[in-house]
Amino acid sequence: MSALAGKRIVLGVTGGIAAYKAIEVSRRLVDAGAHVAPIMSEGAEKFVGRVTLDALASEKVQTSLWDETSPIPHTRLGQTADCVVVAPATARLLADFRMARSDDLLTATLIATRAPVVICPAMHTEMWENAGVQDNIAVLRERGIHIVDPEPGRLAGGDVGFGRLAAPRTIVANIERALSDADLAGLRIVITAGGTREAIDPVRVISNRSTGKQGYALAEAAFARGADVTLITTVDREPPPGVEIVDVESAAEMQEAVMARTDADVVIMAAAVADFRPIDPPDHKIKKTGGAVPEIHLEKTHDFLVDLGHGKATSQTIVGFAAETENVLDNARGKLERKNLDLIVANDVSAPDTGFAHDTNAVTIVFADGSSEAVPLGPKRVIADAIFDAVVRVRKNSPSTPELT
Ligand code: CTP
Repeated sequence: MSALAGKRIVLGVTGGIAAYKAIEVSRRLVDAGAHVAPIMSEGAEKFVGRVTLDALASEKVQTSLWDETSPIPHTRLGQTADCVVVAPATARLLADFRMARSDDLLTATLIATRAPVVICPAMHTEMWENAGVQDNIAVLRERGIHIVDPEPGRLAGGDVGFGRLAAPRTIVANIERALSDADLAGLRIVITAGGTREAIDPVRVISNRSTGKQGYALAEAAFARGADVTLITTVDREPPPGVEIVDVESAAEMQEAVMARTDADVVIMAAAVADFRPIDPPDHKIKKTGGAVPEIHLEKTHDFLVDLGHGKATSQTIVGFAAETENVLDNARGKLERKNLDLIVANDVSAPDTGFAHDTNAVTIVFADGSSEAVPLGPKRVIADAIFDAVVRVRKNSPSTPELT
């Protein structure tokens, strides 16, 4: 279940052209099962009507310290919140929060809460780059405030530059991260996803049925749990927010990208890496006219998970996947031993609703001591979280890994 379900989130909206995006943030939070208590600054009301947010949030918009029956709405909101979010946050809000000024309900709530605070600035490029604004951001970050950096794109008045409010899905992913136990915080995690494509000629490839969904769900879960995540992928899916994406195509390219990051704390090889590739593919298209049917000669690719497993430092956790159609557990155990892995995730890709292309999966996690844990059929994100629970357990039990937070 998402870390957002059942959580009370105060959503502060300040006066910027991006205020309309707060409505989408509210809707996504409510859809994920959170309770959203909205606060609008006086300026925000000039950009969006409160009626819209009233209708889409979980309770009515509040704007002032004086419109509740309670004489102290800011302490009520601040104390009961699991998280306080400001999206968009203006330069003024940043300055007020840094100085702990409490001129209105939102700023008073921000300093009356002990819950995690997520600030999503949005402003013109010149303002964002102003030394004072950057100084305020640095101080807030230092105090443990989660800052969701603005993105490049179109700004108010037709300008283009850096300062645009982060996308609502990015904001929501960061709220989930702020609310999580952060049990992967401080870890660098490399995840691979998708089936590799091996060239027959410049037009044709040999590939497999992997769609990368489980790898993407793993990257999303790792970010939500506080990790610094790199996703090395062969597929063109919408990238999970907050995750570094490295695009590759062939097994050789994936190998190069992974082996350049062997300093990672955890590597999860969820990709379906080709075992064979055509030898010396021509640099021109093989034509059918006038020619015989071509014979494609294959050679083995290099199994770099073997290198990772046998070359790993004692502080590293290396996780393999085993997509099988028969003798699932025995095959997975054999691979774990041969490749010297810490754990392997086995799935029977021939079972219903399981494996390639499905949104659901069912796996058995096999550990180096021979024990195993079955994870029943569920959404790939739930499977991803079960895999990280296992990774956290393995690292806690390993005397050589540094204590996790
Ligand atoms: N793998 C890899 N490099 C390869 C082939 C596989 O790193 N050239 C990794 C996969 O990403 C996966 C694990 O090894 O995590 C197991 O892959 P799989 O294809 O299931 O097993 P193989 O060892 O190739 O054995 P087999 O083909 O006999 O099932």
